[in-house]
Amino acid sequence: MRTVLTHLILTDFRSYARSEVVLDGRPVFLVGPNGAGKTNLLEAISLLTPGRGLRNALLADMGRRAPGEPNGGTWAVSALVLQDGEPVRLGTGQETAGQNRRSVRLEGEAIPPARLSDLTRQVWLTPAQDRLFLEGAGDRRRFLDRLVFAAEPGHAANASAYEKAGRERMRLLTDGPADADWLTALEARLAQAGSLVATARARTLAALQDEIGTRADRPFPMAELTLTGDWERLALAGVGLAEMEEKLARDLAAGRARDAAAGRSLTGPHRGDLSVIHAEKQRPAAECSTGEQKALILNLILAQAARLSRAESDPDPILLLDEVAAHLDRRRRAALFDEIEALKLQAFLTGTDGHLFEDLKGRAQGIHVDGSNLAILDTE
Ligand SMILES: Nc1ncnc2c1ncn2[C@@H]1O[C@H](COP(=O)(O)OP(=O)(O)OP(=O)(O)O)[C@@H](O)[C@H]1O
Ligand SMILES: [Mg+2]
Repeated sequence: MRTVLTHLILTDFRSYARSEVVLDGRPVFLVGPNGAGKTNLLEAISLLTPGRGLRNALLADMGRRAPGEPNGGTWAVSALVLQDGEPVRLGTGQETAGQNRRSVRLEGEAIPPARLSDLTRQVWLTPAQDRLFLEGAGDRRRFLDRLVFAAEPGHAANASAYEKAGRERMRLLTDGPADADWLTALEARLAQAGSLVATARARTLAALQDEIGTRADRPFPMAELTLTGDWERLALAGVGLAEMEEKLARDLAAGRARDAAAGRSLTGPHRGDLSVIHAEKQRPAAECSTGEQKALILNLILAQAARLSRAESDPDPILLLDEVAAHLDRRRRAALFDEIEALKLQAFLTGTDGHLFEDLKGRAQGIHVDGSNLAILDTE
């Protein structure tokens, strides 16, 4: 489903008091000095999907405030989205001070945030992901889960049900003589949500690997992907949901004393990890150069965006690429622009220097960001 963001209004959001921008559906590049508010604008757009946005920040920190002022103030992001040409009015924000849940409105009516997935899907790449292959498994798991979530929005609910039941089980185990029936019930919940989580990750991984296989002509390094978690590996090997659920419940029950002693659960998809190998060099991503790592991740993101854009009944993905252009050499940058255009996706790119987007002149909308001021650039 063709999905285009055409109008955005930020009110008391981060550095913006009240700013408004009208978009024509072409790719958008945002140019401005450090601290101008480019990432803030991408973050605002990212809140048009469920979750905590591309900074994974606290809602209370998103309201505009002077340095030293307490957080928790009200803010709003309103948008007009065209879905196959039909205008849809969306809004989100903190409507009353101190509230720690954001409200979401569709045509003025409150809706649960999860419904946003019916209206927009997004895939993003931020500088925070530059160390993806160098840091702990948690970041890679979250990265993968975002990609899964863009294709299968139900993944978020399964992942949070799994986390919640896991925390409760550990509390029971460490707080002393636990009620065995209650533990069994929690483990059943964990096993059900956990096997759904592992299976969805395996499904996305396999589809991504296939998609990457079709991208040999692009100047982005091809990746060999693997999931190294026990449960994801079972899913990749074709073990069905029911069998996995049963095995996970059994392993959890058998591991109670061990987990209680360790103070954490030692089995389950919360221990999963994504491994990426630079196919041509046969080197793990962690051993690749900074630019190569960036290009590997970008190839994953583009592969997922390409897949999603073919799903007729789902909204087209919006791409948020923060500071990506600066890391790419000119050939890769041109290839990125060509691909965004070929996929007919609405992409938002940021950079501190207008020269980075020279090749986009006439093919994209440029916005100069300076403080709270958003000015459309003449790029024809
Ligand atoms: N809650 C807030 N209220 C007011 N200002 C904020 C708030 N949160 C962040 N800011 C300000 O927003 C500015 C940064 O915006 P942003 O991260 O969007 O910059 P940027 O244009 O992406 O810069 P860079 O090129 O360095 O990445 C900072 O000056 C920061 O102090
Ligand atoms: Mg930034």
